[in-house]
Parts: sequence; structure tokens; C-alpha cells
Amino acid sequence: MNLPHPTRAAQTGAASIDAGQPAGTATGSARDAGLAPDGQRRVALVTGSAKRLGRMTATALHAAGADVIVHHRNSPGEAAELCAMLNARRPGSAIALQQPLDGRASCRDLARRALRWRDRLDVLVNNASEFFRTPLQSTHGLHGDHRADSAIAEALAEEEERALQLFASNCFVPAWLAIELLPALRRTRGAIVNVQDISIERPLPGYLFYTASKAALASVTRSLALEAAPEVRVNAVSPGSFDWPDGQFTEAERRKLEEAIPLARIGEGRDLAEAIVFLALGAAYVNGVDLKVDGGQGLTR
Ligand SMILES: NC(=O)c1ccc[n+]([C@@H]2O[C@H](COP(=O)([O-])OP(=O)(O)OC[C@H]3O[C@@H](n4cnc5c(N)ncnc54)[C@H](OP(=O)(O)O)[C@@H]3O)[C@@H](O)[C@H]2O)c1
Repeated sequence: MNLPHPTRAAQTGAASIDAGQPAGTATGSARDAGLAPDGQRRVALVTGSAKRLGRMTATALHAAGADVIVHHRNSPGEAAELCAMLNARRPGSAIALQQPLDGRASCRDLARRALRWRDRLDVLVNNASEFFRTPLQSTHGLHGDHRADSAIAEALAEEEERALQLFASNCFVPAWLAIELLPALRRTRGAIVNVQDISIERPLPGYLFYTASKAALASVTRSLALEAAPEVRVNAVSPGSFDWPDGQFTEAERRKLEEAIPLARIGEGRDLAEAIVFLALGAAYVNGVDLKVDGGQGLTR
């Protein structure tokens, strides 16, 4: 999603969370949260982290002391620029990995390449996500549709493809990455954080398959929290409104959403990043939760 936002500079520049700031020391203690119990520096993989919210998360984990793998699909410039900034703060502390995540094999590839860097992983943040409308009116039922059979078949195939694309990126890929990386995460007694969405509970009209795919991810979170324990904690964050994707919301829809947020603003990248750092590096006895980071929006919408 591409969102014009008052705090856009903070999200894209990501420099507002710098090393030494409290974002990383979510437990509030003075200890270096980037150091694992074995004394080694923790390594975090954040998918889709060249830009926007993922970028803030990678920056916050880095500020907390973790070394980070900046995964991206198609943002080499932004990923390289972020790594340069992080490596300037702590030499050798960040690398970029490009990988479209579109199926089982691509998840295995990314997992293998991620582990090649340090031969360890402590944190996986499943942040990468597809987001687009799949309105019901695009459903081409056979009744009343007078187009040629071939045109209808093409439309149905396109509709199916879009639904599968949402489920692949938002549910299957996070699950497959977790499965691939679980042995490494067990070794470090690490953590997984899945980025969900508050619309799971109160769906946004027009986003049936996006919402369903995030709801399926919530189920993945709970299953993994059960099965990856006791070595690995698995939790989720559910952001509310953090940014407005280009052209996907009308002015009226935006106003309505903003009016429904008790904290009277949409979220900033650091709001979400701080919650993720807490679940990833602190929160030692928290497993299987869905932490809503929505300014209370879920109470009213
Ligand atoms: N922004 C919000 O208001 C909001 C609200 C609720 C939930 N969320 C959730 O919060 C997370 C971050 O939000 P965001 O708005 O910052 O996300 P975003 O910009 O829509 O997507 C983040 C990144 O995901 C990567 N990506 C998407 N599909 C991919 C694929 N098939 N393979 C590999 N990479 C892929 C893209 O990387 P490239 O740019 O490199 O292609 C993109 O930059 C997402 O999980 C989103 O669902 C956001």
C-alpha cells in the first residue's frame, strides 16, 4: 500500500528511530536486547522491509541491537539505501536480500539465503503483504452475463488468480517461511511476529479476500504458537490505519475511518515498530497473542 501520511518522512526516512533510542529496549532495561543469551548478536529477517512500515520495523530492531536482513521484492534502491544507513551506524550489521515470494520454493530459497549470512536467525517478522480490492461486483456470475463464454472464463480466471495471490502472500508465504526457519529459530530460542490487520474482526467492504487471507494468517499464528513452543514464541500485531494506499479510499472513506479512531490519528510507523520489537525481543512469556496497534479503532469501527 502506498500512503500519503503526515509522518511519511518518518516512515520512509526511518532515521527517527536511531541506535540507542528506546524502541529496541522494549523491556525498559539497560541491557542490549540485540545480544542473545549465547552472547552473539541476534539476527532478524523482516520481509518487505525496504519501505514503509517494514522499513521502520527493521530500523527499530536494528536500533535495539539486532543485525537485520532487509528483504525486498522489487525495491533494490530503497533496500540498499537502508542497509547503507544501518551499516554506517554499526558496520556489517545489515544486508539486503531480494526475493519475490510467490510459492513454496521461493520461501525455501529466501530461508536458505538468510541463514547463509550468519548461520543463525533469532527473529522472523512476516511483514510483506499484498493489498488490493476484490469487490463482489467483480464476481462474474453466469446469470445475466451475456458476454462470450471465453470472456467469462478469462474473467473468472483473473478473479481466482487475484484471490490466490492474496492468500499466497498473506497466509501461505508467512507459514512456509516460518516452517523453513523453525529449526534455526529453535536453536536460538527465537521469535516470530506476523503482521495481521484489525480488519480481520471488522472487515472493510470491498476487501473480502485480503481480509480472509489475514484471518487465515491469524490462524497460522495460533497454530505455530502452539507447535513451535517451547523454544519459539509466535505472536502477531494487528495494525489499524497507518497509511492510505494510493487511490483505494475516497475522501469520505478516509474521514469516516479517522473519526472512528479514539486516539484521533492514524498510526505512525514507529507505533507499529515498537510493538513488534517488544514481541520479538522482549515479552519472554507472551506467546500466541494478537496485539492490536490501532489507537483503539477496533473498539468503534
Ligand atoms: N499500512 C497500513 O495502514 C496497514 C494496515 C493494516 C495492516 N497492515 C499490514 O502491515 C504490513 C506492512 O504494511 P505496509 O502498508 O507497509 O505494506 P506494503 O507497503 O503494502 O507492503 C510491504 C512490502 O511487501 C512486499 N511484498 C508484497 N508482496 C510481496 C511478494 N509477493 N513477495 C515479496 N515481497 C512482497 C513489497 O516489497 P517491494 O516493495 O520490494 O516489492 C512491499 O514493499 C503488511 O503486512 C500490511 O498488511 C498495514
